[in-house]
Amino acid sequence: MKIISFTNQKGGVAKTTSAYNIAVLKAIAGKRVLMIDLDPQSSLTILCNFMPAKTEFSVCNLFDGKTDPIDCGYLVKTTGLENLYIVPSDIELAEVEQNITGRTAREKILKKVLKYFEEYFDYIFIDCPPQLGILTTNAIVVADKVITPAKVKYLSYRSIRSLKRTI
Ligand SMILES: Nc1ncnc2c1ncn2[C@@H]1O[C@H](COP(=O)(O)OP(=O)(O)OP(=O)(O)O)[C@@H](O)[C@H]1O
Ligand SMILES: [Mg+2]
Repeated sequence: MKIISFTNQKGGVAKTTSAYNIAVLKAIAGKRVLMIDLDPQSSLTILCNFMPAKTEFSVCNLFDGKTDPIDCGYLVKTTGLENLYIVPSDIELAEVEQNITGRTAREKILKKVLKYFEEYFDYIFIDCPPQLGILTTNAIVVADKVITPAKVKYLSYRSIRSLKRTI
């Protein structure tokens, strides 16, 4: 299983669009792909026709410290496209980020949980929020690769420099 995080703290640079489209292409090619929406804005969740406010379980549960990682398959939703799955997001993820700030090993929470998905998926794609906060740090720590979409603009280039330092 390969984990790829779509990251750039600059907003509106096509992180979500890239994650979704590449995930769809991989799924059509027969790979089993899990998308994780790690952005409280929930754009990827909405793209997959889920209403963020109405999802009973969401990516927040991966961070709550109560959910048993061995038994968290119920967080994975089908998308209607064969081989393509999603763990949807929720606006409450913004609160979750604040709550985990004081936890020890807070940057490794996803790494600990996602190893339990290893046998079920060929790829996990993580769509990050436009900040270099603890959620994005979790996505970087767990990733085999980071893809950073960017606009060909000076400010976008500057954001890549600080992202590289963070990585
Ligand atoms: N290749 C492209 N050409 C033109 N427009 C694009 C392209 N890719 C994405 N867009 C548009 O750019 C906008 C921002 O895309 P997207 O939501 O994927 O960015 P994002 O980096 O995920 O944003 P955010 O930081 O808010 O999460 C959307 O309106 C999208 O349709
Ligand atoms: Mg996005």
